[in-house]
Amino acid sequence: STYQVGYFIGSLSSTSINRVLSKALIRLAPDDLEFTEIPIGDLPLYSPDFDSDYPPEARALKEAIGASEALMFVTPEYNRSIPGALKNAIDWASRPWGENSFEHIPAAVVGASIGQIGTAVAQQSLRGVLSYCNARQMTAPEAYIQFSEEVFGPDGEVHREDTETFLRDFMREFRDHVERVLTVLPR
Ligand code: FNR
Repeated sequence: STYQVGYFIGSLSSTSINRVLSKALIRLAPDDLEFTEIPIGDLPLYSPDFDSDYPPEARALKEAIGASEALMFVTPEYNRSIPGALKNAIDWASRPWGENSFEHIPAAVVGASIGQIGTAVAQQSLRGVLSYCNARQMTAPEAYIQFSEEVFGPDGEVHREDTETFLRDFMREFRDHVERVLTVLPR
């Protein structure tokens, strides 16, 4: 059987290095993971005023998460946290009260920056949010990726063997995590 993984790119940039990283992760993932991007760029800013009547973009977001058996968050670090666009999407999906889309869903957190910190602080911030939202995060291994064009080609080719091995192992561990969670908490 296969597992449906919905993935979020935390960046709205047309030249996003995190989008490139997502392509590498998908390339290197085990065959039984199937990936669908869940777009966040067209969502209005969340307000509780919408709780009684979500707009189409927000309904689509919750339906896409509902159709996923697991989630992967590939995000940049913005000012030592996650980009507002990603937080906005999470806020939408967590509501209306009692209809939190993240309840018990297996999830992975990963990200790339140009600098050496590799989104570590943003990932820690995102993990706090996802903990509150009651997602079942893979807590180890972690992956803090320093992006360089020597290592990553535009379509997610990985030109360094140790990086490729690291990312392949990360995705294999994620697959095992998804299987483990879904065994106890089927969706
Ligand atoms: C950044 N960047 C950044 N990098 C980092 O390592 N820690 C940080 O706190 C920040 N803060 C930050 C804020 C804002 C508003 C921007 C635009 C950028 C740099 C960031 O890592 C770099 O722009 C990446 O290319 C962003 O990822 P995407 O959008 O290319 O996927």
